[in-house]
Amino acid sequence: MNILILGSGGREHTFAWKISQSNLCDKLFVAPGNSGTAQIATNIAIGVNDFDAIKKLVIKESITMVVVGPEDPLVNGVHDFFLNDSELEHVIVVGPTQEAAQLEGSKEYAKEFMSRHNIPTAAYQSFTKDTVEEGHLFLETLNPPYVLKADGLAAGKGVLIIQDLEEAKQELSNMLVDAKFGDASSKVVIEEFLDGIELSCFVLTDGKNYKVLPMAKDYKRIGEGDTGLNTGGMGAISPVPFADEVFKQKIEDSIVKPTIKGFQKDNLNYKGFVFIGLIKVGNDPKVIEYNVRMGDPETEVVLPRLKSDLVELFQTFKDQTLDSKTITIDDRAATTVMLVSGGYPEAYEKGKEIIGVENINDSIVFHAGAKNEDDKIVTSGGRVMAITSYGKDYKEALKKSYQNIENLHFDKMYYRKDLGFDL
Ligand code: AMP
Ligand code: GLY
Repeated sequence: MNILILGSGGREHTFAWKISQSNLCDKLFVAPGNSGTAQIATNIAIGVNDFDAIKKLVIKESITMVVVGPEDPLVNGVHDFFLNDSELEHVIVVGPTQEAAQLEGSKEYAKEFMSRHNIPTAAYQSFTKDTVEEGHLFLETLNPPYVLKADGLAAGKGVLIIQDLEEAKQELSNMLVDAKFGDASSKVVIEEFLDGIELSCFVLTDGKNYKVLPMAKDYKRIGEGDTGLNTGGMGAISPVPFADEVFKQKIEDSIVKPTIKGFQKDNLNYKGFVFIGLIKVGNDPKVIEYNVRMGDPETEVVLPRLKSDLVELFQTFKDQTLDSKTITIDDRAATTVMLVSGGYPEAYEKGKEIIGVENINDSIVFHAGAKNEDDKIVTSGGRVMAITSYGKDYKEALKKSYQNIENLHFDKMYYRKDLGFDL
């Protein structure tokens, strides 16, 4: 079959790497893709939200499976667009429909879903411009730190964690009244602060059955010791050492099962990946957030550990028979280290030549913000490349990634050298 992947980051290069290994895949396209996907697939220069152009491509190239990388097109209804078009409805789309994508698109929607289905999460209330005074009073009833979340998508920047009560009140007003995050903060969820260590659980579902994929932990802050600004993710490891069998079983029983049952009870058409952001509070997992896609850079460690044919798993979405498949996972650990442009996540320069990719042999190089220019590879984004390695444990795998990075270079390249420091 011919397959299209939507997106252009390290996550999408990893999908292309995995899918191109499947005997079921004939032609592979990536829109828009990057210099990494160009090596193993055909890049097509159309945007992930240009549904009409995507339709033309799908028909022209007889594509019968579309794997959606980022959340944006899902929240904008790309799956519904396929279902509602008689020329496209036969195509398998990996990713939920627009309503189900609200689990990521609206924090309040996700909170209501969790409370309806008894899924453990932080206590909360939500507020609008008209109830900002109530919001201030609610903050007074809580203990610091205060967690304020813009309801809508805010490019990963919409969550504020504040120590001081007066500052929290001020920020609540900034978000609701002064539209600090634009439309995304026209509603704000205020949450109880959860104290613990974070990890992520990835689930593949056909809407009825599910398979739990390897857990992973990512490193979000730019600076060593988890300091400085939040980024899209500076690296990841899998498995997560502190998630033992007992804890994983708790996650499956108290969170994964009621989540999938919840989709059915609420009549949500959810076929794709569920990325559950968790926090371990004492010995219990609680949900911080749902994402309706795979994580980036978590994909760069989760898919390399999946031995099963991903296309074969996606094919079961047609008749909801994922339960007929078994999933095999590589016992080895996988880690990835993200190389970023100096200055990221604030202003940074692009167009820097990346030298030495061909010198890496013991690790897998997943391109992210990188593109071909003449016969060079140059930087085109903040997060440039993810260097993934296997090892008997995360320490051995990390060591390999760090050694290999020595062979790679671009002007103002930066990466965190302390991944795993907290384990
Ligand atoms: P989110 O966008 O919901 O994933 O939140 C971004 C980050 O804020 C998370 O990765 C956590 O580190 C932190 N966070 C979110 N909600 C809470 C909470 N209720 N308690 C503690 N930390 C939180
Ligand atoms: N690495 C976090 C995310 O993909 O949202």
